[in-house]
Amino acid sequence: MARSKQYQQSKKWERACLDTRRSLGSRKKRLAKFRISSGLKVLDLGCGDGLNTNILFEQTRNIVGVDISGDLIKIARMKNPRVKFYIGTAEKIPLRANQFDVVLVDSVFHHILDYKKAVGEIKRVLISGGVLCFIEPDNSLIRRFIDYLCTLKVSKYMPILNKRRITYLEEKDLMEHWLGTKNEFLNVLKKYNFRKIFLNNDFLSIIGKYKVKK
Ligand SMILES: C[S@@+](CC[C@H](N)C(=O)[O-])C[C@H]1O[C@@H](n2cnc3c(N)ncnc32)[C@H](O)[C@@H]1O
Repeated sequence: MARSKQYQQSKKWERACLDTRRSLGSRKKRLAKFRISSGLKVLDLGCGDGLNTNILFEQTRNIVGVDISGDLIKIARMKNPRVKFYIGTAEKIPLRANQFDVVLVDSVFHHILDYKKAVGEIKRVLISGGVLCFIEPDNSLIRRFIDYLCTLKVSKYMPILNKRRITYLEEKDLMEHWLGTKNEFLNVLKKYNFRKIFLNNDFLSIIGKYKVKK
């Protein structure tokens, strides 16, 4: 079981998470928005079992993944033995400074209570002018509504919500914390000298690309 200082991620959550994630097609579309050119050196931070890592591997062979979960890293390594995957946390990335052109963070910041530390670490491993690309839950009415449905017992019997319900209920406190401090997160980026290239939302998520100046 993965451990972090703030909370313990359960195997139940990890399994449900693998079952409920976005399709490959929708991921490819989202990742394309970041326009990550071939040859750039990329870190997929909080890579899970490496789904995004493998999509980007087709574009740039120069990619590594880091995740807090030993179990998920094991799966990632099996799926793509050509990529280097490391067990580690976003708050203390086990890699040397000033080496990446891009750090991708897909649905991970909301798991980290102390995301300031993670932002500092991302800045450390990026080169000056490197970019942070992230996708995280948005504090939108539609998300709030779906989350609310997940808290109702009846959602157990609704196939569309049942799996999502498991992940939501497991990470409810973290999600609430994240949604409540999303604007603070954007200020933290500013404080660490990340400048916005774009910040969009698609009802459920925010999708951002920020460039760092060191
Ligand atoms: C919702 S999943 C997203 C996985 C992957 N980015 C994707 O899009 O398929 C969140 C991931 O963050 C990882 N994670 C949670 N806390 C972390 C931390 N402090 N440092 C690094 N990874 C973390 C979890 O193990 C999990 O794989």
